[in-house]
Amino acid sequence: MIDIHCHLLSGMDDGPASMDESLAMVRLALADGIRGAICTPHWHPMFWPNERIAIAIAVETLRRRLQAEDIAFDVWPGSELSLDADLEAGIAGGRLATLNGGSWVLLELPGAFPPSGIDTFLLNFLRSGHRLVLAHPERYSYILRDPVRLHAWVEMGVAVQITAASLLGRLGPEIATLCRVLLEHRLVHFLASDGHGVENRRPLLREACRVAGEIAGIDHAVRLVDTHPQAVIRNEPLPLAGFKPLSLPKKQPWFKFW
Ligand SMILES: [Fe+2]
Repeated sequence: MIDIHCHLLSGMDDGPASMDESLAMVRLALADGIRGAICTPHWHPMFWPNERIAIAIAVETLRRRLQAEDIAFDVWPGSELSLDADLEAGIAGGRLATLNGGSWVLLELPGAFPPSGIDTFLLNFLRSGHRLVLAHPERYSYILRDPVRLHAWVEMGVAVQITAASLLGRLGPEIATLCRVLLEHRLVHFLASDGHGVENRRPLLREACRVAGEIAGIDHAVRLVDTHPQAVIRNEPLPLAGFKPLSLPKKQPWFKFW
């Protein structure tokens, strides 16, 4: 398995506080069957000014430390970018990090309210050549209330990453139920840990992958944690076989499941 969303770099955001804690996270991940991770520190213009060069240096430092410790675990650079008016220019100018330096971008939207004009923003962003992974939309209150909105974004070309802990019910039963429904409707493309440390929000995928396999089939689950992450690392589009979102019932709101 490859984890495409993990806060593994120390001292950059609310992830590990030290290199030792980064290494402890890697050991946890390895024991769980994860063989590599894209390091995705937050970027926010005010709170987390982590730019591409600093992330590249931190990843290289971690990579060398892993080699020195003889730990076979791959790390790639990335970032979890917050929505911002300057986002597109920041990426185009090389100031902000994409996933492994390619066209895939991990985007986090505000959780409480839908940003105005978000549908147009996403469409224009995709049209400008970016590939987009939406970070844990199951945690956004407006998606929880109206998952049809996410269906429209997926049909537009947005890829969806849900977080392992969400599927396992650690963020409450409603979010877990939404994850199950999204999986059933082929609206999930990536399962990631969003790991932040060794105590809470740990970098684990195995149990959630097993649950995803029960819901959507094991072949599907493997795509979420291996086939699709590999495509991102190689800067390729996703192989879409089996991933066309299922059409929604017209008369009965499909999302009224609780
Ligand atoms: Fe994150």
